[in-house]
Order: sequence, then structure tokens, then C-alpha cells
Amino acid sequence: MNGKFFVTTPIYYPSGKFHIGTAYTTVLADSIKRYHQLKGEDTYLLTGTDEHGQKIENKAEETGETPQEYVDRMAKMAKELWAKMEINYDDFIRTTEERHTKIVQKIFDRFMEQGDIYKGEYEGWYCIPCETYFTESQLVDGKCPDCGREVKKMKEEAYFFKMSKYADRLLKYYEEHPDFIKPEYRKNEMINNFIKPGLEDLCVTRTSFDWGIKVPKDPKHVVYVWLDALTNYITALGYLSDDDRLFKKYWPADLQIIGKDIARFHLIYWPIFLMALDLPIPKTILVHNWIVMKDGKMSKSKGNVIYPEELIDRYGLDPVKYFLLREMPVNQDGLFSPEAFVERYNFDLCNDLSNLVNRTVSMVNKYFDGKVPEYNGTPNEADKELEQYALKQIDAFDEKWNNYETANSIQEIWNLIARTNKYIDETMPWKLAKEEETEKLASCMYHLIENLRKIAILISPFMNDTAQNIFEQIGIKENDLKVWKNLKEYDRICNVKVIEKGNPIFMRLDTKEEIEYIKSIMK
Ligand code: MSP
Repeated sequence: MNGKFFVTTPIYYPSGKFHIGTAYTTVLADSIKRYHQLKGEDTYLLTGTDEHGQKIENKAEETGETPQEYVDRMAKMAKELWAKMEINYDDFIRTTEERHTKIVQKIFDRFMEQGDIYKGEYEGWYCIPCETYFTESQLVDGKCPDCGREVKKMKEEAYFFKMSKYADRLLKYYEEHPDFIKPEYRKNEMINNFIKPGLEDLCVTRTSFDWGIKVPKDPKHVVYVWLDALTNYITALGYLSDDDRLFKKYWPADLQIIGKDIARFHLIYWPIFLMALDLPIPKTILVHNWIVMKDGKMSKSKGNVIYPEELIDRYGLDPVKYFLLREMPVNQDGLFSPEAFVERYNFDLCNDLSNLVNRTVSMVNKYFDGKVPEYNGTPNEADKELEQYALKQIDAFDEKWNNYETANSIQEIWNLIARTNKYIDETMPWKLAKEEETEKLASCMYHLIENLRKIAILISPFMNDTAQNIFEQIGIKENDLKVWKNLKEYDRICNVKVIEKGNPIFMRLDTKEEIEYIKSIMK
């Protein structure tokens, strides 16, 4: 093993079906996990559901279920979606599980004992969907600054966490750990918008509803949903439990992935809670932007919601994952449009990738009876140039992927695909065959197969089924040839036979028809 990699997604509010935007975080986390697996690292991916709070209590009331029945049904739905999306998580934590609630109570007690939590009174403007109190000055046009909905004036006896005590330590931590927050501009947002103006103590209990973890020594209070939820990352690993082997092995997380709307909780409160517990802080928290539609945020009322299941049923899983990762820039929101989806499918997947596989396999069949020629050890100028280009692209992919610039890194793979297609046009194997340039033709076929092997490895973290399909079509069976270990080698393939009649991996879609179809499922 080369090392270990522990990655987490946020735990989801189970408030209905997840749309493709919500699925994005988990698809990204899963792909990053698979990439580290490919490199031979021991990996661990944690996800789950965030099941307490007033919002859930209200939802259950609407559906006529008890809150427990409601969250049970929702957690099942989430697991079914992740199974459909082949999300390879190692643990799914639910915040209503005893392994979590018991430890949250221990943590709360500890904070009380060490004086980080004290009792006071809270009065403010409360946004029920966001489960957050705001001060008058934080409201935007009298409404919630995060979601824009109505807020309610509320007052209650409450416990507070002394955030202010940790503000300087947090700033110092940011300064000394430049990799902690990615991309970097999110750090400046935190400093300028929240820390510099003065970090207020955080109200960490509620009495206005019941569906939460009870404060051990004062059970009319329930623990604020964010204090409850954030600790999932350590309770899932057995922190403070009888069996904390996973915690010892994996904490601190190498990477926590979150969407921009929950940055404040993860970049300010979470490291402060960890400091108060004397625990190490995750190495990196990656904040991604949102998938939005042409007319803005996805919402049922706008009739612009896309659910992953419906896209997967029609187009397969890999095109959906490809699209999500390929379309999300680092610094701004990624746009979903039916036109862009169909275009990516037809151009990137069908024209570029699928055709390359198809052309190559049929040429190896035609010119060498399906048997891939051996590497001749002395590549000619054109082949050498192709080799160098491929190696350069692998490094470019790797560097960008490790910096979590997924869209840019995937572009590097598609540059390699384009270059390999161009190599066919330039080398003109049909001409070499006609002129009986057998050695050149053999070397050309070898290089095409070798590049396809490399491409299949590179796409496997996010398009695993397609990668396996390519390996099968080009006759690669040995596991060692499907992972990172021999990725850069050029002389590994021997005794390999391509499939006799391979089916195209992706067939061209009728643009007009499919755009109409996607529009119809958005309504
Ligand atoms: N329950 C909290 C997280 C607690 S973590 C201790 C939560 N849940 S959520 O279900 O509302 O969101 C889950 C994730 O989906 C968040 O990272 C959120 O940013 C992300 N997304 C929700 N809509 C999204 C898009 N339209 N696009 C991309 N990500 C989106 O927040």
C-alpha cells in the first residue's frame, strides 16, 4: 500500500429526492476516492444523512409520518440512489444512530465542563429551512440572507459556544496551512465576511422543537443541528467509543468536500470544534460551486429540476458522471442545459472516445487478425512523439486532478484522445497497409492500443464501466495493466487479442429528440 486517503461528503438533509446538483458532491468524492485506489492507496469514503432539526420534524408532519419513519424512508432512498450511481462508500452514517447521538452528548458535556459552552438567552431572526438564527443586520430585505425566505423573530433560553475565544487561533491556522481551504478565495471570504467583523458566539441548542439530540443535563434543550451534524465525521470513525481503531487510522481526513452554501459551517465552526476537542483538523476542505440551470437555481417551483435517475435510465451512468465533473469550473457555478448534455454526449463521448476505440479495434482485426503486435523497442519519429505527448498529458491530468480542478484535468485526457485520433489521420494506417509497411503499421497499432489502455485507466475513477468496456475490447485482462502502477510504461502489452466484433460504446444521439426529452423530464 502506498498510503491512505480518507474523504468525506457532507451528510445530506433527507428532505426529498436528490437532484443532480446534490448528487454532484458525492460523485466528486467517489471519483477522488477511486483515483486514490487506482494509485494503490488504502481509501475510505464516508457519507450519510443529517436527520435532525425542525425542518425534518415539519416534513414528517406534512407526510403524516413520525420523524423517525420519515428519516428511515429518506435514508433508504439515499442509499438506493448511491447504489444506482455506483458510489463506493465505506460507511453511511445516520445522525439518528446511537453510535452518533451518544458521542454528541459526550462532546457537549465536555464543552460544558471546559467552559466552551455556557448558558444564556437568545433572541434573533430564525430561518427554519436553514436552521439558522440571524441578527437584524444580517437580513437581506428582511429575509434570510442564505435562502431568501421569510424569517421569524424568536427568543429562547439557550446554550452558546464561545466561538470568539478561538477566532485568533483560527486565523493563525489558516495562515499556517495554505492547503486547508481550496480554492483559496473561499478563505478570504471567511476572513472578510465573518471573522474580521467579529466572530459571534454560536447558539448551539434549541427549545422550540423536539426532534434532535437531547442536552444530557438539560433535556428540554436539543443540540443545534450543525453541532450535531458536523461531528458525524468523527463519530462515524468511532471517536470516544469503545472501538476507535478507524478513528486512529483515518483521522484527520485528507479531504472533506462541501458545496459553497455550507462553507461557513465547515471552514469556521468545524475547525473550532476540533480545536476545542484538541483534535487535528482535516488537511483540506474543498468548496465546490453549484450546478445551476439557465434560469438559476434548480427548484421544483421553477420546473427546472433534473433528477439523476431519469438521466441514468436513458443515457447510462457514465455520461451523467462525465457531464457533472466535466462542466464544473473551479471558480464559478457549472451550467446544466439539455443542449450541453447532448453535445458532450455526441462530441466527447461518441465522436472522440467511442470512435477511437471502434476504429482501433477494427483495424487491429483487419490488419493483424485481432492480435496486437508487440512493441518493437525502437519507435519511429511519429510514434515517439505520440508517446511523449501521452506522458505529458498524464502528468498534466495528475497535477490538475490533485489540485481538485476536475474539469480541467478531464480536458487533458480529452486532449490525449484528440491527439490519438489525429495520429490515425496523420499516420494513415490504410496507406501503410497498402504499401506493405508492416513494421510501421504494427507499431502504429501497438501505440493506439497502448494509448487506449492509458485513456481507460485515466477515465476509470469517474467512468468505470466505460473503462472496463475499453479494456475488454482491446483485450487487456491483467489487473496490473488496469491501474496506475504501469500507466506510464510503453512496453507492457504482449500476447493480447482485441475483441472480434466490438460494439460502439456510445451511439450518436438525435440532438433534437434528446433535447426535447430532457426538457420533458425537467417539467
Ligand atoms: N445537511 C447539510 C450538510 C451537513 S454536513 C455536516 C446539507 N445537506 S444538503 O442535502 O442540503 O446538501 C448536500 C450537499 O449538496 C451540499 O454540499 C450542498 O452544497 C450540495 N448541493 C446542493 N445543491 C447543489 C447544486 N445545485 N449543485 C452542487 N451542489 C449542491 O447541506
